[in-house]
Amino acid sequence: MESGPIGIFDSGYGGLTVMKEIVNELPQYDYIYLGDNARAPYGNRSFETVYEYTLQSVNALFDKGCKLVILACNTASAKALRNIQQRDLPKMDARLRVLGVIRPTSELIGSFSKSKNVGVLATSGTVISNSYPIEIEKFYPEINVFQEACPIWVPLIENNEFNNIGADYFIKKHIDNLLEKSNDIDTILLGCTHYPLLHDKIKQLLPQNIELLSQGKIVSKSLKDYLFRHSALESLCSKNGKTAFYTTDSTEIFDQQAEIFYGKKLKSEYLHIM
Ligand code: DGL
Repeated sequence: MESGPIGIFDSGYGGLTVMKEIVNELPQYDYIYLGDNARAPYGNRSFETVYEYTLQSVNALFDKGCKLVILACNTASAKALRNIQQRDLPKMDARLRVLGVIRPTSELIGSFSKSKNVGVLATSGTVISNSYPIEIEKFYPEINVFQEACPIWVPLIENNEFNNIGADYFIKKHIDNLLEKSNDIDTILLGCTHYPLLHDKIKQLLPQNIELLSQGKIVSKSLKDYLFRHSALESLCSKNGKTAFYTTDSTEIFDQQAEIFYGKKLKSEYLHIM
């Protein structure tokens, strides 16, 4: 089997915040990013729809030669990953892998919280799936998880409206809601890969003792460890230090917006998926 790039997928731009950290941590590999911007956001869509769209996107990345795909999207990880791993991958080449972002985050989150009370901010889809409480319990049964769905945040971010006064109202509303659920929360996870763009605004609204976590670094360190432990898969990941970006919508708009998430300019290509 020929080696290929590592695929990184998100409904839109959010996964770029994760890819940025992965490329920093593991610059030797090749990467293909795919944003399904034409159908974003996924956060309020049904399980069936998120599964269908995610599977199509994963297949498109396999068609581009990827052997490993990271779902850099909590909503897709919550609603589609298990089905893809259990139902679809066994029918494909046994060496192909798809990984999500919820498990690696859950594995580590307990090491940040002393009070054992953790808050999770995420899309409605991720919250309704209950994936975080379920996964965190496997590693840290003593931790209480308090979730808050923030359905309007992704549209505000995707439309580049998150720095406006109108956005502040919705940011504060969900932070207040979460903090009302417990006085003992000392760690809050940004459980959506779009939310790192709101990091500074959220931080200003939080008491100083609360740690605010983004997933990029957690996921990149966990991927490094995973590749170290899975040498057969690692040898199928090509190493020329190249990156490519695909969007299912306008490349012009993608290139304008993506810089805010990726931290530098990039040039995307259009990909039709179905
Ligand atoms: N960035 C995605 C996540 O981490 C979700 C965005 C969406 O609603 O499409 O959940």
